[in-house]
Amino acid sequence: MRTQVGIVGAGPAGLLLSHLLALRGIDSLVVEDRSRAYCEARQRAGLLEDGTVRLLREADLAQRLDAEGLEHGGIYLQFAGERHHLDFRDLTGGRTVTIYAQTEIVKDLIARRLADGGALEFEISSTAVADLDTDRPVLSYMTAGGERREVICDAIAGCDGFHGICRPSIPAGLLTVRDRAYPYAWLGITAEVPPSTDELIYNRHPEGFALHTMRTPQISRLYLQVRPDERLEDWPDDRIWAAFQRRFALPGWELKEGPIFDKAVTPMRSFVSSPMRYGRLFLAGDAAHIVPPTGAKGLNLAMADVTVLADALHALLLGDSRLADGYSDACLSRVWRATHFSWWMTTMLHVAPDADPMTEELQLSQLRYVTTSRAAATSLAENYTGYPPLR
Ligand code: FAD
Ligand code: DHB
Repeated sequence: MRTQVGIVGAGPAGLLLSHLLALRGIDSLVVEDRSRAYCEARQRAGLLEDGTVRLLREADLAQRLDAEGLEHGGIYLQFAGERHHLDFRDLTGGRTVTIYAQTEIVKDLIARRLADGGALEFEISSTAVADLDTDRPVLSYMTAGGERREVICDAIAGCDGFHGICRPSIPAGLLTVRDRAYPYAWLGITAEVPPSTDELIYNRHPEGFALHTMRTPQISRLYLQVRPDERLEDWPDDRIWAAFQRRFALPGWELKEGPIFDKAVTPMRSFVSSPMRYGRLFLAGDAAHIVPPTGAKGLNLAMADVTVLADALHALLLGDSRLADGYSDACLSRVWRATHFSWWMTTMLHVAPDADPMTEELQLSQLRYVTTSRAAATSLAENYTGYPPLR
């Protein structure tokens, strides 16, 4: 079998790449080891940067996003018993962010690829990539029906997430890895209750971080800092709501509670593997880098990578390798900016188990600075809404 670009993984990166390539007249095959239903239901990110929304509009993928997305012009930062508003529109000359769940982006992308006749295979197994240092790399896998396939490609995109097979297929010693684990995790819940806030609340509390976000005008999503080894069984719903009530407490404000229908613990790490290319294998999204979720960069970075990659592959298949040669550096500059921002937001807002009073005062000083200095607030707003702005 033959395709121009073999794409491993039907997450946001792989699916969007396949669509962007189709817009450039390039064939691709997306292979995914989970079922379509699983990919469409996996609860993850929910916040899109200004440029990501624009990119989806330009790629004609934003009909439902424009109808159902919730545009936000800022966030709240809460600490030391006070809640402060940062106005992104004012600070950045009109830039905003939009709440639209990753589940919905994945549903929109799968529907669009299928409507356009795109090749997508779910529930495959034994994925492998080979001959990466030639100009005919091979993607092989077992179909859901048990048939072995070998697909000869012009290039392969490794969009298979952090635990995928593409990054480990690069010969040992060629990758430089920077890795940091954090001594806390997030317990995330989705609940059937209207959000108690108009914009997101990032909250530093002596007990630990909490975030109030949302999915729709009827559905709230909240995150609670917990220990990395926390067991979900130890967190019945009433314990979760009691912790949120304590951390978000503010005179005159009420946190509404409702039935919780999704609950999971997410570990937190910063991880960057470079370069993002080996021969004709190009890594994109979580396959190459992970950020802690504070600041919502993971999904936005994945989509930024494939925007660069679509142009690079287009040129490469026409015989011009310059953009492909620059792909890794072009992406890593944005990746490192987001890695720093996510680390900064995370360490400013979480309480480490070994934190001393000095650390606490430094965090509070930084929070007072970003909520009183226009220069500091502008830096947060510029990074949060996406830096550098996607072209
Ligand atoms: P993924 O979405 O991971 O997609 C990779 C795909 O490849 C998956 O569908 C996987 O099944 C498939 N795959 C893996 N191995 C193989 C194989 N061998 N063969 C075929 N297919 C394979 N970001 C935020 O901004 N905010 C958040 O709140 C947030 N919460 C998160 C919670 C969790 C539990 C996780 C894991 C991530 C979270 N993220 C969050 C990060 C964000 O969701 C990711 O950055 C984003 O999903 C990256 O997209 P991707 O397409 O690169 O990778
Ligand atoms: C969401 C997740 C984040 O990590 C964040 O910083 C903002 C929003 C969310 O899931 O909506």
